[in-house]
Amino acid sequence: METAYSISLFLHSWNRWIILIAGIVVLSAAINGYSRKLKYSNFQRIGAIVFMSSLHLQLLVGLAMYLFLSPITAQALSDFGAAMKEPVLRYWSVEHASVNFLAICAAQVGSYFVKDRLIAIDKQKHSIIWTSIALVLLLAMIPMGMMGVDRPWFRF
Ligand code: HEM
Repeated sequence: METAYSISLFLHSWNRWIILIAGIVVLSAAINGYSRKLKYSNFQRIGAIVFMSSLHLQLLVGLAMYLFLSPITAQALSDFGAAMKEPVLRYWSVEHASVNFLAICAAQVGSYFVKDRLIAIDKQKHSIIWTSIALVLLLAMIPMGMMGVDRPWFRF
């Protein structure tokens, strides 16, 4: 159990960098495409696939830790009322999981609109809007000190 927890933390921690880099690439390419009225490119399509796949992996590993592996969420779920009064337990059991889940939903909605729209400029616009929303939510809820919770930036 302990090994599974360490492997999950390791994966979840490093995958955050794939998510952030892919998100920034997707957003920059869409801003460039929108301002120069370019067609939605293959490079953008691949960037969006990497962004969405890494988000899905993050959700899967996050859920496994949340429900089965993390001693922190286990403690929070054993007495949810008390956990709500404790900022760190509340962060892991409610804020981190739910806001990041919303970020993944925003990216997913964006991916749907980008595929659905036929005109390039509309694809670029939706990519900018939804990727920005997802990135803002993600950046607020990655434990890098922003919400008073800090974890190693690079876990070895
Ligand atoms: C895509 C968005 C997400 C990002 C970028 C992210 C990022 C992180 C990071 C950087 C850590 C710290 C890892 C470490 O200590 O090295 C962490 C821990 C954790 N995350 Fe996420 N996470 C995301 C989504 C989720 C979701 C959706 C859930 C739950 C459903 C979740 C549950 C957890 C849990 C349970 C921990 C470990 C708490 C512990 O036992 O120490 N995460 N996350």
